[in-house]
Amino acid sequence: VPGREGNADVWELRDLETPALVVDLDVATGNLRRMQERADRCGLRLWPHTKTHKVPALARLQMELGAAGLTVAKAGEAEVLRDAGLTRLHLAYPPVGEAKARRLADLLNRGCRLRVALDSAAAAACVADAAGRSGVPVEVLVEVDVGLRRVGVAPGEGALALARQVASLPGLVFAGLESYAGHIGHAPDEASRLEILRREGEALQATKDLLERDGLAPAVVSVGGTHHAARMEAIPLATEIRPGTYVYNDRDTLLAGSCDEAELAAFCWVTVVSRHADRAVVDGGSKTLSSDGRPGAGYGLVRGHPSWRVDRLNEEHGVIEWPEGERGPSVGDRLAIVPNHICATVNLHDRAYGLRGGEVAEVLEIAGRGKLR
Ligand SMILES: Cc1ncc(COP(=O)(O)O)c(C=O)c1O
Repeated sequence: VPGREGNADVWELRDLETPALVVDLDVATGNLRRMQERADRCGLRLWPHTKTHKVPALARLQMELGAAGLTVAKAGEAEVLRDAGLTRLHLAYPPVGEAKARRLADLLNRGCRLRVALDSAAAAACVADAAGRSGVPVEVLVEVDVGLRRVGVAPGEGALALARQVASLPGLVFAGLESYAGHIGHAPDEASRLEILRREGEALQATKDLLERDGLAPAVVSVGGTHHAARMEAIPLATEIRPGTYVYNDRDTLLAGSCDEAELAAFCWVTVVSRHADRAVVDGGSKTLSSDGRPGAGYGLVRGHPSWRVDRLNEEHGVIEWPEGERGPSVGDRLAIVPNHICATVNLHDRAYGLRGGEVAEVLEIAGRGKLR
């Protein structure tokens, strides 16, 4: 029950005060095992992105299962892992500015082995500054934009120019290339998803060839995400993969065909607090689920009721509608809503309630939540 601390008791799901984030640890553990097996089968090193769960105990389990290291976005997330004794870390976000250099130097001084992906000379200088302050070398991956149009230099000459700069800076070790085709998640169909991966593979191959001709052969080619992991054979030159969402999965992962329903491990547990002829209101809104909607398709999947729609959210209210002819829920009913984007949801919660064998058996403190910096 929220407010009750510790892991001593076993509680019934129905006893939990709502709204609450619930994680089925049997399903999540199965997801972690299967991903490691898949990576091993494909000869890829697994660097799970911990931004999804933000829980050191799950990160430790990922390492115990065979991960090569752990991916984070922010220094604050890295500090949480380091404090839990997890020190082989990949920062998949460009650090810029002196404050970041100091944070990274501190991580290096405290025993972390860091790898950083970046896309500018300024970020490379920041990492070189951290390496200089600490006296510990840092591996660098040059981030290539493969169509997401977020971070990343242009494939080919753009990547070569930055790789040369990285290789010339003291304290930096040019280790290879990184890409993240996050736009796969909203591609309309499987043919488009595979086309995005084909183009990503093509861009990375051309860049790798160019670098090799320049004597800068990339030892590492690190690609993204859970959608990639479900289609690993599509980018044969990858040496590593950094999926994050796979630990829990979410409605976006399900709709993209990157997991099946039995692999959905997390949901928001909510109570119906108001009922009308055409709608019901639950006690989880954007503060519980996050406001990540799908255009025209609402804010989550109501488990057991696929035809119902989480139509609108305010901060504390979720408005549920159902097709004509169905009864819909009553005041007091509990519902399990799988959010569209679980990473954003997890970041809103201090803790998750862990189910084992269908009972609430554990409280997971989400130690890495809210680490903006
Ligand atoms: C750079 C980068 N790598 C890896 C991931 C993990 O991808 P996913 O959550 O789709 O598994 C993300 C997610 O946002 C990312 O931004």
